[in-house]
Amino acid sequence: MNIVITGCTSGIGAETVKGLSDKCDRLFLLVRNQKKAESLLADLPADLPKDRFEVVFCDLEDLKSVAAAADYVREKVTSLDLLINNAGGIFPKGTITRDGFETTFQVNHLGHFLLTQKLLPLLLKTPTPRIINVSSEAHRAANPKLNEVTNAANYSSFPAYANAKLYNILFSKSLQEKYGSQGLGTFSLHPGVVKTNFGGDFTGVFKLLIKLSQPFMITAKAGAQTTLFLATSAIKKEWNGAYFKKSKPVTPSKLANSKKLREDLWEKSANWVADLS
Ligand SMILES: NC(=O)c1ccc[n+]([C@@H]2O[C@H](COP(=O)([O-])OP(=O)(O)OC[C@H]3O[C@@H](n4cnc5c(N)ncnc54)[C@H](OP(=O)(O)O)[C@@H]3O)[C@@H](O)[C@H]2O)c1
Repeated sequence: MNIVITGCTSGIGAETVKGLSDKCDRLFLLVRNQKKAESLLADLPADLPKDRFEVVFCDLEDLKSVAAAADYVREKVTSLDLLINNAGGIFPKGTITRDGFETTFQVNHLGHFLLTQKLLPLLLKTPTPRIINVSSEAHRAANPKLNEVTNAANYSSFPAYANAKLYNILFSKSLQEKYGSQGLGTFSLHPGVVKTNFGGDFTGVFKLLIKLSQPFMITAKAGAQTTLFLATSAIKKEWNGAYFKKSKPVTPSKLANSKKLREDLWEKSANWVADLS
């Protein structure tokens, strides 16, 4: 099995790599901090062949680096079985990336949209490829405003994060609609409330809230279980495109089922990355 995963330098992604490390032929770790990825690899069991793993620079805040990472994978393997779009985060301040998008939107959605577009030809070369998008129950608070994603003037952290996580679910469903007939399985998921570096850039009240909640959070290893289930188990055909929690499909918000919204998201995202696809 050839695998690409983002966001695996800590938390849920790192545990996902550990869980897949003995099940893969090639695993590409797409990260912005290569040192952290190398130290994760150094902690894997010594008997695993080291040439199975490759660290590739990919900063989701920089779409050119996303495109370059995908091009690199395309040079190295002729097919791909699994893409896990796991990287993500919530950010205290509203910033605009060098590509001109609000950072939460680009890191959680648009960067992965471009990566997926570029890797789809490789994925569709295998009979039953899969794409997993790590979303969140936060999507239920979304109030999507796709016309405002190039603007951080009215930025507020949680609404921006909730919207981005809604886009992860809409994107999964669109992928299933467009490519399911070619064998592609696509899933989105909520990993649980997990003790990771999530929200680590915050100070003040939000930081305090995270600290107070930590005793009630599950471990990163437990948080990786739904991803690992979707990556390695036989999944019923009727569950293709679904949103999962605790390794079971659950009904997402009404907005997450909106055909109009997912078509709008697809069309706009495709236009925004057209020069790099
Ligand atoms: N923790 C929770 O309770 C929870 C709940 C629901 C959903 N989630 C989702 O789970 C996923 C994993 O998060 P986590 O909880 O494991 O948090 P985490 O420990 O903070 O991991 C986030 C990962 O994303 C990477 N990342 C962030 N910005 C990036 C960028 N610009 N380019 C490339 N990689 C970037 C981080 O890399 P660096 O090491 O370089 O920062 C890190 O590897 C996220 O999509 C998150 O939204 C988490």
